[in-house]
Amino acid sequence: VADDALAQRQHASWDPNAAAWTDAVRTGAIASRRRGTDAAIVAACAVRPGERVLDVGCGEGWLARALTSAGAHVLGVDGSAGLVEAARAAGGAEYAVVPYAALVADARAAEGPFGLIVCNFALLDEDLAPLLSALARRLAASGRLVIQTVHPFVAAGDAGYVEGWREETFAGFGAGFSAPMPWYFRRVSSWVSALQASGLELKDLQEPTAEDGGVLSLLLEARLLSSDVAN
Ligand SMILES: C[S@@+](CC[C@H](N)C(=O)[O-])C[C@H]1O[C@@H](n2cnc3c(N)ncnc32)[C@H](O)[C@@H]1O
Repeated sequence: VADDALAQRQHASWDPNAAAWTDAVRTGAIASRRRGTDAAIVAACAVRPGERVLDVGCGEGWLARALTSAGAHVLGVDGSAGLVEAARAAGGAEYAVVPYAALVADARAAEGPFGLIVCNFALLDEDLAPLLSALARRLAASGRLVIQTVHPFVAAGDAGYVEGWREETFAGFGAGFSAPMPWYFRRVSSWVSALQASGLELKDLQEPTAEDGGVLSLLLEARLLSSDVAN
């Protein structure tokens, strides 16, 4: 199926791009991150000292390191061996090579419960329900899932506010990106329904803005559907 092939190409792009991505993140080459999305995700995570945190699609590990500095015990997982190697070299948290398919298939991979699971620009596939359900199973009863993603209003571009696969070329992120990355453009309602289809419910939606007032990203916080009953 064409969509599966796109998802495969999407996963496969991270290893050839690992060094360039690590460089882009660590030199502050991504303008939107400098303008506020880094600060926004750290603030939304609001970790408690000693809290167990899973950083899904942790990349080279900057957020895992930041949350460790804030007092959490963080496990970062990513499917790219090159990025996990870069994360381990910088330290500051535990890291493991775990493709999302392994989180779906094996409850012992990155075993819960976690008080917080965070996905920072790391949910790029068309069908999110299998992974989100797997993350829901790893949440503590009162745990939080925090997702930051590109704001669909900003990303819509010429293709418009229409769901579908798009391609990221990493233009403007610095040199060395050899593989463009397909990613799935999702409407706001589609984010909410993906959560609902996975045993989760939206608790908060924020639109972080830069100092000049421009919207930067979409930030979603979800909890287990049953947590209202439990608490
Ligand atoms: C845009 S990067 C974000 C990295 C990191 N969260 C950050 O804030 O810098 C997306 C990350 O998701 C990871 N990823 C994408 N699809 C994956 C999959 N199917 N399994 C595991 N990791 C995946 C990539 O390897 C990459 O590190």
